[in-house]
Amino acid sequence: MPNSSPVILITGASSGIGEMTARLFARRGYRVAITARRLERLEQIASEIRADKTGTAGGDAFPIQSDVSDPASVETMVKTVLDHYGQIDLLFNNAGFGRLGWLESLDPARDIQAQLNTNLLGLIYCSRAVLPHMIHRRQGHIINMSSIAGLVGTPTYTIYAASKFGVRGFSQALRREVSIWGVQVSTIFPGGVETEFAEKSGSTKRKTGISTPRWLRLTAEQVAEAVYRLARRPRAIAVVPWMMRYSVWLNNMVPGLVDKIIERRFVKRERGL
Ligand SMILES: NC(=O)c1ccc[n+]([C@@H]2O[C@H](COP(=O)([O-])OP(=O)(O)OC[C@H]3O[C@@H](n4cnc5c(N)ncnc54)[C@H](OP(=O)(O)O)[C@@H]3O)[C@@H](O)[C@H]2O)c1
Repeated sequence: MPNSSPVILITGASSGIGEMTARLFARRGYRVAITARRLERLEQIASEIRADKTGTAGGDAFPIQSDVSDPASVETMVKTVLDHYGQIDLLFNNAGFGRLGWLESLDPARDIQAQLNTNLLGLIYCSRAVLPHMIHRRQGHIINMSSIAGLVGTPTYTIYAASKFGVRGFSQALRREVSIWGVQVSTIFPGGVETEFAEKSGSTKRKTGISTPRWLRLTAEQVAEAVYRLARRPRAIAVVPWMMRYSVWLNNMVPGLVDKIIERRFVKRERGL
């Protein structure tokens, strides 16, 4: 009998939010195709998902190595998933990283191009690669990972913000382009999440000590739950935690005041001026 469980393809599933989303969706009955560059970690996660008997269905996971910044690798990856499962119901475009610092100190290739290639172009390549399949089936859902940094620009996050604002624009345009085919596009904008993100970001300890307060920080499991809610009820924009909507509102309503506060309280002090 053909397997009727929905299939989710998750990029950046070898750690953090992607990994937790894979584990959660598998427990809730999805077949999960997980992709990233670190194959060994994907294989380990897939074998743990298969062994996890706590969910509603036997865990079904398929690990595939891919670099989302390489269009050829993405095409092969999507084809491999379709050959294996026969369908993709949901694409979670999650792969990404931040390389933070003053713009003049960022390296053009390692920091600037690599970030845009992964966070923005990678997400575009993956969406483009699954769309013919979704349009053909007249159904499907793409959930794109942005960030609060895709709604509010802050110093040292210039390139990261450019990539995540880009995700927002791309998602809005794509949503309006493909809705006639029954394909949904949602975008999630999390605040600070406790994952490997910070240690990979190259950010040093700040003189001001300013960072997301502990009580406002999310776990990867909480973001995975938010992704699951989106899968059940697609929405153009989902900000998590909901309290973060106030900072977005403030930024939109009184941008000049926000400029001044950030300049005085953060930039001058961090630069020792
Ligand atoms: N943590 C936060 O505070 C936060 C807040 C808002 C949004 N986000 C976003 O959430 C997403 C997941 O980040 P995370 O916090 O879970 O960090 P993470 O644990 O470092 O996960 C990042 C994932 O992306 C994958 N990845 C990176 N470059 C890739 C590439 N070129 N091709 C394929 N996979 C790639 C990594 O796998 P490999 O290294 O194995 O390839 C890893 O699985 C990112 O898009 C990030 O911008 C994070």
